[in-house]
Amino acid sequence: MTLFLKRLRSRTRKLLGIGKRPKRHRDLKARFTHVYRGKTWKSSESASGPGSTRDSGSVRQALIALAQVVSVYDIQSVADLPCGDLNWMPTFLKQNPKIDYIGYDIVDALIAANRRAFPGYAFRVLDITREIPARADLIFSKDLVNHLLERDVWSAVANMVRSGADYVMITSNSDPVPNIELPENVAGSSRPLNLQISPYDFPTPLYDDGYLVMWRSQDLAFVLDRAA
Ligand SMILES: C[S@@+](CC[C@H](N)C(=O)[O-])C[C@H]1O[C@@H](n2cnc3c(N)ncnc32)[C@H](O)[C@@H]1O
Repeated sequence: MTLFLKRLRSRTRKLLGIGKRPKRHRDLKARFTHVYRGKTWKSSESASGPGSTRDSGSVRQALIALAQVVSVYDIQSVADLPCGDLNWMPTFLKQNPKIDYIGYDIVDALIAANRRAFPGYAFRVLDITREIPARADLIFSKDLVNHLLERDVWSAVANMVRSGADYVMITSNSDPVPNIELPENVAGSSRPLNLQISPYDFPTPLYDDGYLVMWRSQDLAFVLDRAA
């Protein structure tokens, strides 16, 4: 093959992404910063991906779930963990102006952008697999654990429980498929995760719409023995 043909083939492969290896990351901060900066989740509306757009089914479900549990369980404070780019949460906060809100995310640049865009709300950088957030009545965790390796799922839920929150609401897909491990710590990777089946086997929840599921955090105390 001539040099010209070799170059042409290599350029074409590059353009088509053929043979391109997904980028592996040593740690979660690097991985999710890469996702944020590279707009890996490909949504023109939200850096947090298509599941965070205002007209998506998951946002509609989240707004219904939050409205229901804050009134039934008299929830006054919410830790949104992870908050992402806050594309839809202001809808809930405007309807519930008395809620004491704080948004946490692992990506520094995302938290800095949120502070600039929403000066009325509190935000903090935090890696839930390593740190314990401040106590809130409810920890609301939409679309996090599906992106984490199993060992990080245990650590994240353990830190939610350690925070002393009364309730934790976490995305848990009731798909009738067994849980699988994430292939590896690769940029935007995800898979459905059902916390009510093996290896998690979480107990009967207080609220469950097949996507967002809420437990009293004291009912999840057993995760403390499973987390690294
Ligand atoms: C798909 S987005 C969901 C954001 C938001 N919950 C929503 O529904 O719009 C997932 C977010 O999780 C954040 N994240 C990933 N690992 C985290 C960790 N260990 N601690 C805190 N945030 C994390 C990412 O930076 C990203 O913003």
